[in-house]
Amino acid sequence: MPRVTFLPDAAALDVPTGTPLLAAVLRAGRPIGYSCRGLGVCVACRLRVEGEVSPVEPAEARLLAGLSEPGAYRIACLCKVQGDCRVRADYW
Ligand code: FES
Repeated sequence: MPRVTFLPDAAALDVPTGTPLLAAVLRAGRPIGYSCRGLGVCVACRLRVEGEVSPVEPAEARLLAGLSEPGAYRIACLCKVQGDCRVRADYW
């Protein structure tokens, strides 16, 4: 199973391929904003992500375009784990 590593402390969680990053973060007990409950509207769940995750689809690209650093983030409820990856929230 792919491993999601939470930075900066390097705690890790193994999840099935295709798991939304938001679900992995919640399963790990990490705090994360998700006021639209994963509908892909609020961008509160944005994370910095490196590694093997799903490509940016048009709906996510539209949300990212509204951020000040669009290339630095992924929308956790729309981004799926495809392999090992590392994630970081600005507030962890
Ligand atoms: S939870 Fe709202 S965009 Fe992800």
